[in-house]
Amino acid sequence: MSHEEIIKVSKAAAANTLTDATKASAIRAQAKDDPDGFWTDVAKRLDWSKPFTRVKDVSFDAKDLHIKWFDDGELNACVNCLDRHLPERANDIAIIWESDDPATAKHITYAEAFEETCRMANVLKARGVKRGDRVVIYMPMIPEAAYAMLACARIGAVHSVVFGGFSPEALASRIEDCGAVAVITADEGMRGGKAVPLKANVDKALGLKQHKTDVRLVLTVERTNATIPMTAGRDLYYYGEARNDVAPECPAEAMNAEDTLFILYTSGSTGKPKGVLHTTGGYLTYVSYTHEKVFDYRLGEIFWCTADVGWVTGHSYIVYGPLANGATTLIFEGVPTYPDASRFWQVIEKHQVNIFYTAPTALRALMREGDDMVKKADRSSLRLLGSVGEPINPEAWLWYYNVVGDGKHPIVDTWWQTETGGILISPLPGATDLKPGSATQPLPGVFPAIVDANGNFLDGACEGNLVITDSWPGQMRTVYGDHQRFIDTYFKTYPGMYFTGDGARRDADGYYWITGRVDDVINVSGHRMGTAEVEAAIDEHDAVVEAAVVGFPHDVKGQGIYAYVTLLAGVEPTEAMEKEIIDVVRREIGPIAKPDHIHFTPALPKTRSGKIMRRILRKIAENEFGALGDTSTLADPSVVDALIEGRKNR
Ligand code: WT7
Repeated sequence: MSHEEIIKVSKAAAANTLTDATKASAIRAQAKDDPDGFWTDVAKRLDWSKPFTRVKDVSFDAKDLHIKWFDDGELNACVNCLDRHLPERANDIAIIWESDDPATAKHITYAEAFEETCRMANVLKARGVKRGDRVVIYMPMIPEAAYAMLACARIGAVHSVVFGGFSPEALASRIEDCGAVAVITADEGMRGGKAVPLKANVDKALGLKQHKTDVRLVLTVERTNATIPMTAGRDLYYYGEARNDVAPECPAEAMNAEDTLFILYTSGSTGKPKGVLHTTGGYLTYVSYTHEKVFDYRLGEIFWCTADVGWVTGHSYIVYGPLANGATTLIFEGVPTYPDASRFWQVIEKHQVNIFYTAPTALRALMREGDDMVKKADRSSLRLLGSVGEPINPEAWLWYYNVVGDGKHPIVDTWWQTETGGILISPLPGATDLKPGSATQPLPGVFPAIVDANGNFLDGACEGNLVITDSWPGQMRTVYGDHQRFIDTYFKTYPGMYFTGDGARRDADGYYWITGRVDDVINVSGHRMGTAEVEAAIDEHDAVVEAAVVGFPHDVKGQGIYAYVTLLAGVEPTEAMEKEIIDVVRREIGPIAKPDHIHFTPALPKTRSGKIMRRILRKIAENEFGALGDTSTLADPSVVDALIEGRKNR
């Protein structure tokens, strides 16, 4: 990438947007010099039923860890996303729903979204769901998924959305961990022309004996009207049996800023997925602010984030951020390749999308389908492009910029995590020069640093581990039910700092380049997966003695899943066995965790004390046999030669 190209990009950015560099640096300076004043001003963008007087009460010290923002204020997230827009924007479109079937779409006004959300809230209340109760939402990408989230927020219930691609096993363990009293689902979902049996999965999940669940209500939204078994006393059809019997208005609970808004499960490097907990005031302030500034959102524009509401991106930039800002948010039910690989671009033309936010994995897959697929759709409504979920390689960045954006629109490469609630590192369009592949610079009020393995701060151009040295309002507050795990995971590695789990490089211009996870988490198609979780799933197969899972570079997915598996003596490593193991992973987690390669091996490389040497396994999976490093501590070095032979043969 030549310097000239960088300048060209930045000029294009400036020509298309309002923000300017001088203003941005003034804002950064204010956020640094007077953080309380800065965040007070930002939080004023919300409606508070009781104004806060305290801004920030935070300690990153593991012995006294606490994170509180605006903690004597009260507000309701649903009121901020819906009610407060009604006086001026009742008839503006809140949600455009594009169905899996390209012939069907719906436009939903703020007034309608308000009524539908109130009705759903009233149904939950009528069935005994109370403030503080946990509700699991296992839904397809339909407007009712947003109503369900907002309905919970309205009555002070805590939602935990579980991605519809997760298996009944994975769903059950989340229902159990958060102690949900209700599940909101749909009869079926539709993706790429195929039905997904969501309600049947819920039934299976609730029937699993190894999970103790206490669900008293399964509220089922009719999406396909498929015939499904209903359990009397527990199951309720939303449209057929409930919606019309309740009032179209529902009073909202006044919530403390630090009351829980939601729990969202995400994979870690060890153990079960953790319930990342976000609270109300700080989270909503942060996603509303970042949605406006990062995407330069202007009222009346159509904003499309292609994520699923099952991930944090969907929470923050399909539902809470855009709706808090009175935006029009597009909810897309389908997949990028159905009916064909021009779907994204057709949807942009059909709904005149102005701001488009997607993941590098989708771009890489669509890039392969040829430029004509893009060019046959009219993309003249576009003004800004965004990327999220994994590092974007310069090649995909330039394709996005030149082909999708016709070389005219800035790209915001946004780095953040489930834990951070919202975007932390990203260009401010028009203010930040862009470099393909770099998330560029921290947003105002965000203070990242790069440390070496011992926690020493590195200065200037450097590479190391990415930490954040001070809190921001959207930060997660705890791991649900396991505060110690929160402290141990994020605040012990580098005392006094939040450890992201990512590696990063900083260049001479102070730009950040995220290099990927430095822990045992892999990023498959922008989805986070714990290697330990996949190993535990594989171990469930009776013939498996041991498994070790690592990531490897994958052209489309970013990283693929590579599993080394040792079978019981006498069991043949056949193709049928490979299929059985893949099926176990699908059953335990879901199709997204399916290994790309299964490498049967009689033994794994271990130290004399029995620790698996993952570094070696990663290198072999990457086909980097020359760089294995020190193997002298291995109990049996010949294992490595056999593994290399096995890798070469596939
Ligand atoms: C991990 C977080 C953020 C919402 C979606 C994923 C990686 C995320 C970027 C980016 C490079 C990125 C990091 C991070 N990541 N965005 N723009 N550039 N890497 O949320 O599932 O919590 O995963 O995704 O490795 O730690 P998540």
